[in-house]
Amino acid sequence: MIKIAMMEEIPEREARSYETPNGDNIFITQRDGSFYAYQNLCPHLQVELEFLENQFLDRDQEYIECSTHGALFLVETGECVSGPCQGQSLEKVEITVHSDGGIYLKEE
Ligand code: FES
Repeated sequence: MIKIAMMEEIPEREARSYETPNGDNIFITQRDGSFYAYQNLCPHLQVELEFLENQFLDRDQEYIECSTHGALFLVETGECVSGPCQGQSLEKVEITVHSDGGIYLKEE
């Protein structure tokens, strides 16, 4: 397994982008003490979600938001609940948090 981040880099209701060793652009966000990771690709037009660095959440920090057309995604599942890709989902990246505070990619 490969360590991609440390827990303290990603505060509650914030998100950070990372590049995996195989070149994938992903982001990780924290909600209620759990961490969720997704490929940084909107299912609508396959573009990156953020316009400003690490700005993956909407103004209320409730949903993941695509800055291009405003699609909203559930943090816990990546499902699009509003916008042009409603019903589609972000591609989840499997991660695991270890007792050393590291966030590891499960596969690679
Ligand atoms: S490209 Fe993301 S909502 Fe259109």
